[in-house]
Amino acid sequence: MIISSGFLILTIGISCFLYSFTDPQYVVCATEIPQNFCGTVSPNISLSENAVEGKKIFNANCAACHKLDKKMTGPALRGIENKQEFPYENYVFDFITKEDSLNKINNRYTKVLNEEYNYEFDHNFKLTKTEFEYLMDYIN
Ligand code: HEC
Repeated sequence: MIISSGFLILTIGISCFLYSFTDPQYVVCATEIPQNFCGTVSPNISLSENAVEGKKIFNANCAACHKLDKKMTGPALRGIENKQEFPYENYVFDFITKEDSLNKINNRYTKVLNEEYNYEFDHNFKLTKTEFEYLMDYIN
């Protein structure tokens, strides 16, 4: 009897000890919400399949500096393709994949933008047209 209740108390003790490690993790301002794991699906209910791919690309490459709805290191990106007058049709793709060459030709729009943000960074991401389309599906 004494041994078995000792065992019981020990079990409860260990459970409490383990439980103390399962405190919820608090998300601090501007940190990425952690990706779910163990096969759970994050709530992308309103996103199309392509947009979900785009979100992955965004989180891996852009989220460090951009948010969709809030200015951070770089401008807010939601609806970027329709938000403003770009110098020409494929400008956004060119900007993301080869900003350095836009700077070389001294594109006025790019120059003004760079001056406004005053942050040394050229977007030279190796994205295919398809990946770019996915990204825009997510952003727009
Ligand atoms: C290291 C920080 C950083 C990362 C990473 C980054 N950007 Fe930017 N982005 C900026 C800054 C700063 C600007 C403002 C212009 C400039 O300085 O180049 C900008 C500007 C832009 C613009 C132009 C917006 C406009 O109003 O013309 C687009 C589009 C853009 N980023 C898309 C992206 C995408 C898509 C990715 C990921 C593939 C990305 N950026 C990754 C910092 C970043």
